[in-house]
Formats: sequence, structure tokens, C-alpha cells
Amino acid sequence: MKSRRDRSQYQYVLGDSQSESRRLDLQAQLWDPIAHALFDRVQVKPGMKVLEIGPGRGSVHLELRKRVHGPVDFVERSPVFAEALRMRCMEDGLGTGTLWCSDLLDSRLPDAEYDFIYTRWVFCFLPDVEAHLRKLAAALRPGGCLAIQDYSHRESFALFPRPAEWADFLAADRAFFAAQGGDISVAGGLPSRFRTAGLLLTDATHTHMVGGPGSAVWDWLWQYFLSVRDRLADILPLTLVKAAALEAAWREAANDPLARIAAPAVVDLITVRHEPSIGTQDRETGLGT
Ligand SMILES: C[S@@+](CC[C@H](N)C(=O)[O-])C[C@H]1O[C@@H](n2cnc3c(N)ncnc32)[C@H](O)[C@@H]1O
Repeated sequence: MKSRRDRSQYQYVLGDSQSESRRLDLQAQLWDPIAHALFDRVQVKPGMKVLEIGPGRGSVHLELRKRVHGPVDFVERSPVFAEALRMRCMEDGLGTGTLWCSDLLDSRLPDAEYDFIYTRWVFCFLPDVEAHLRKLAAALRPGGCLAIQDYSHRESFALFPRPAEWADFLAADRAFFAAQGGDISVAGGLPSRFRTAGLLLTDATHTHMVGGPGSAVWDWLWQYFLSVRDRLADILPLTLVKAAALEAAWREAANDPLARIAAPAVVDLITVRHEPSIGTQDRETGLGT
């Protein structure tokens, strides 16, 4: 387990700049319908006690507030995002939730409080995934639900026709997230970790988006590339020269009606906190088994 000192060194690699805000807004337009479908499956309803982790710009957070007809708590490490969202939440008349402006592991969440905890694209950045899962499981009431939307197989991110530098780009991209202890394909490895955190996986719904030039999925991934290009160019096996060649190939592909981008696969994982039971004890003797 990481110590508090290790945790305090964690930096969120994408930050909260204005250009990152614009990227998140574009991303939300494409992906919010997938989140709404998840909320339908979970049956998020008025009166539910809900917590969101890492809402960022908060489009999904505002939707959760509408669905519960009231405030939703959140943990957001960026003071810029947290304050902007707190202000937006004052506009819908649905009340004020509790906000922890800190890293999730440093937040003092209540025990056994929430019916539903939701997080999208936060786990892929986190070191010590097990500690984060245990923390969220403890904050759920027994029978409450934790849903995580995140990348399951980043390797599925592909441009057709494939530029020669593509494999090096993916390797640098993976290393970029790993530098802070993250795993860019984190969701693929979560099911076995849920069990040890006392969470039962009940649903896994996969989304693989593919689009041509000018599609929303193409624009989303092109914006991502531009936003990280200079930093990834510093990470071997990518280099400045290879990043420039990849950018040129991608721009050329944008004029090719047969070109396609396949987005990294995302999975919606829905888990339930185990009900306390005498299942681990012998029902007649009460002795542990
Ligand atoms: C990629 S953004 C996703 C934002 C939002 N969930 C969405 O889907 O649009 C990741 C968000 O998680 C926040 N974050 C990253 N690490 C965190 C941590 N350890 N604790 C709380 N928030 C964190 C970031 O500040 C950022 O707002």
C-alpha cells in the first residue's frame, strides 16, 4: 500500500487548463449519452443518496442532480473544476451537496452512506486502485451500487490506414499514464479486484466507437492527440520526429473518406456492495467457516 507521502506526490497528468476544459466538454457531448444509459440501467431515482468522484466539468454531475431531484456529493481534486461546478450547481435550485476538494483517498467520506457512487475516467489515472476501491465500498450502504466507466483495452485505439509511428504512440501514451501510477487499460483488470474490496460485479457493458473523418469520435481523439502531443513526444519510443510524422499522417487521413478511427474500448462496470450476511458462518453453530 502507498504511504500518505507517496500519495501527496500524485499529480493528475491532464490538469485543469482552459484547453483541457474544452477537450472535456467535447468529450462529454460524445459520451454523456452512454452515461445516461448506465443511469437508466442502475435506475437512479429521486431521493437516492449519490456521490460522484472526479466530475471535472460536471455535465454528468448536473444530470445526476436532475435524476435524484436534489444535491449530489462529489470529490474533485482540482480547485478550478470544483469551484466552477459548485457555482453551476447553485443554478438549478436542487440544493447543495457536500464537496471534498481533495484527492479521493484524502477525503473523509461517511461510512455506509451512499446508494450510488459514480466515476468516469478517473480510475485510469490512479495509483493503488485497491485502496480506492476499498474506500468507495466502505462509503456505500450494503446493497448500494458503484459504477465505473473507464478504458478496458486502450490497445483497441487504432487509426486506419495505420501510420508507421502508431505503436510507438500507444507505448508513449501508456507510459504517460503510468508515470503517476495509472493504468490506461485499468477497467480490464478491475473484476478480480472488486471481489477483494467486497464488491460484486453485476454488469459489464462495452462501447467500441468507430468513426470517419469529421465524425464526433474522430474529432474527440484528434483533440486528445493535439493536447498531449508535445508531452508524449518526450516519452520514448515516441520522439519529436515521430510525433510530427504521425500528426502529418493523421492530417492526411482526415481527407481520406475511407479512413477510420477506432476509439479505445470503454466498459461500464456496475458493482454492488455485499449485504452483510451470515454466509461465512455456519448457520446452526454460528462458527466461522
Ligand atoms: C479525465 S477527467 C474526467 C472528468 C469527468 N469524470 C468526465 O468524465 O468528464 C478526470 C477528473 O478526475 C479528477 N481527479 C483525478 N484524480 C483524482 C483523485 N485522485 N481524486 C479526485 N479527483 C481526481 C481530475 O481533476 C478530473 O476532473
